[in-house]
Amino acid sequence: MKAVLISEITPAEKVELVEIDIPKVRPGWVLVKVKAFGMNHSEQILRLSEIKAPYIQKPAIPGIECAGMIEDPSDSGLKKGQRIVALMGGMGRSFNGSYAEYALLPIKNVFPIESDLEWEKIAAVPETYFTAWGSLFECLDLKEEDCLLIRGATCALGYASIQIAKAYGCKVIATTHRESKLELIKDADEQVLDNGKLEGRVKGVTKALDLVGPKYLKDTLRVVNRGGIVCQTGILGGVYSLNGFDPIKDIPNSVYLTGFFSNYPKEKTISDIFMFIKKHKISPIIGAKYDFKDIKGACIALDNGKINGKIVVNVDV
Ligand SMILES: NC(=O)c1ccc[n+]([C@@H]2O[C@H](COP(=O)([O-])OP(=O)(O)OC[C@H]3O[C@@H](n4cnc5c(N)ncnc54)[C@H](OP(=O)(O)O)[C@@H]3O)[C@@H](O)[C@H]2O)c1
Repeated sequence: MKAVLISEITPAEKVELVEIDIPKVRPGWVLVKVKAFGMNHSEQILRLSEIKAPYIQKPAIPGIECAGMIEDPSDSGLKKGQRIVALMGGMGRSFNGSYAEYALLPIKNVFPIESDLEWEKIAAVPETYFTAWGSLFECLDLKEEDCLLIRGATCALGYASIQIAKAYGCKVIATTHRESKLELIKDADEQVLDNGKLEGRVKGVTKALDLVGPKYLKDTLRVVNRGGIVCQTGILGGVYSLNGFDPIKDIPNSVYLTGFFSNYPKEKTISDIFMFIKKHKISPIIGAKYDFKDIKGACIALDNGKINGKIVVNVDV
């Protein structure tokens, strides 16, 4: 089968397909025929630095998510040909991932789905919509009557969050730091140009999904109403942690702070997401698509960060 294999720091321009054996199935694992996969920043981080870490098995096939069909169900109870998505839990790091025609994956990471969407649309869902869903419902306890602020909305996760929250019935205020991108968040009820200070500029926010991260987190905390919740999910601002964070002074009284980590998807949640997408006729947003033979182009696009929405790679074309 064709796959991407990396053992050392690999710039996008050096990414190439190699021919390797299809992995042999074993108990507790299933063999998946990969139809398409979405691309993620964490794969870029793996390629450009994390590959050197001792906990990464090498050579590694990157890819933290995919959409495909069961090729060999092993002892899973799933049927050959069942449509599935797979994501996270060490995929593409502790064990080989999705940049391949076939992937050998632990049963716990593989979720049967019912969807009549085309494969590339299904592939845009797992990591992005699971992260949006978990942030909105598990962490923010989103209700129809909420006014949701999405800070840093011009990213795949932001667009997905707008879709879900609007379909759920919430009022949505979305921000971007580029005036030219206000148009891209027009599906929100209000669009705000983010200059780093939203305090005093947005009103009535009961829940906030912060995708910019620690760079502006203190400001986000000051924007939500008393009793409101802030969920810290993204790090688009390039600041990963906060030194000198003073919870007593920086978190206003009766405002709640939480964070979401997408590492632990559950079958019920994935099934709920696909049911919600179907019920509300949501079309997962794709920013750019590539054929697997041009995986190098897809990696270059990921590294350049200029695509608006999810990058999807079609494997079985
Ligand atoms: N917590 C978790 O488990 C989890 C899971 C998945 C993703 N994430 C995080 O969520 C964020 C979004 O992920 P994604 O895959 O949806 O990203 P993405 O689609 O690749 O979006 C990247 C784009 O975000 C834009 N952006 C928007 N606001 C920005 C700002 N204030 N500063 C810098 N760039 C900004 C940039 O374009 P412009 O500068 O042109 O606007 C950039 O091209 C990332 O930080 C990612 O690491 C977290």
